[in-house]
Amino acid sequence: MKIVVIGGNGLIGSKLVIKLREQGHETVAASRSSGVNTLTGEGLADVLKGASVAVDVTNSPSWEDNAVMKFFETSTRNLLAYEGAAAVGHHVALSVVGSERMLESGYFRAKIAQENLIKSSSIPYSIVRATQFFEFIKGIADLSTEGNTVRLPSALIQPIAPEDVATAVCRVALGSPLNGTIEIGGPEQFRLYEVVRRDLAARKDPREVVADPQARYYGIKLSDTTLIPGDDAWLGQTRFETWLSQSTNQIPATTRQPGRGTVAGGN
Ligand SMILES: NC(=O)c1ccc[n+]([C@@H]2O[C@H](COP(=O)([O-])OP(=O)(O)OC[C@H]3O[C@@H](n4cnc5c(N)ncnc54)[C@H](OP(=O)(O)O)[C@@H]3O)[C@@H](O)[C@H]2O)c1
Repeated sequence: MKIVVIGGNGLIGSKLVIKLREQGHETVAASRSSGVNTLTGEGLADVLKGASVAVDVTNSPSWEDNAVMKFFETSTRNLLAYEGAAAVGHHVALSVVGSERMLESGYFRAKIAQENLIKSSSIPYSIVRATQFFEFIKGIADLSTEGNTVRLPSALIQPIAPEDVATAVCRVALGSPLNGTIEIGGPEQFRLYEVVRRDLAARKDPREVVADPQARYYGIKLSDTTLIPGDDAWLGQTRFETWLSQSTNQIPATTRQPGRGTVAGGN
């Protein structure tokens, strides 16, 4: 079976490509760096020729409201049109648990637009909604930093290892189209400020993490369960502490300058 992974050199895409190849499938990693651009349509006709499955694990380079909406709408329209022309039998996309509860953010409005385009197309599909990736936790800290202090609410979060995300997407891509959505999450729940505190401590990052009920998450007011998947979610096996000790063994202690906030761009 030929499977095209759009975004195949990204965090999830690169792991997914390895898993699909290990199972013996002809797997093509496609993205701008290989001459395939979902925004312009460049390279899509060629790469999708003869493909049974297309997996979309792209992400928008900019998270500015208009840019991210343009990215997910235009890319998804292009992908579905070229997949239709190539008679691709299964479109798989990665989205985010709770997107419909976070519409204050342009990013999640764009993810919902992406999901709706997929649902209304004639191509059989599966949407995999994941909780926050472990890698993403440091980004949450960076966005919530003022001076040397990180302020975050105590809402629950159930983050997942990217390896487990790739395993789930691989399983879905190799199965029959669900024509529906499944959720995946990590094996444990944490308070948001608590998991960020652990992440920074393991990196020897000197920032102080403070629980603040008024603090927002990407501009969103969270309830306790906004980020949490439903009871039917598939759960990854990797525990946060296991991932943290492995990943902090590989990276130097942070060289981040206190007081340098970040804007929502990239991931
Ligand atoms: N971060 C989280 O916690 C989280 C949680 C749940 C779901 N998700 C979803 O997971 C998905 C994948 O995230 P990720 O972190 O694995 O992404 P990533 O590492 O940022 O990778 C993004 C990929 O998109 C490709 N890309 C960007 N613009 C493109 C274009 N115009 N045409 C073709 N390819 C393009 C990039 O390759 P080139 O630069 O070579 O084009 C890269 O392969 C996203 O849709 C996100 O919404 C994320």
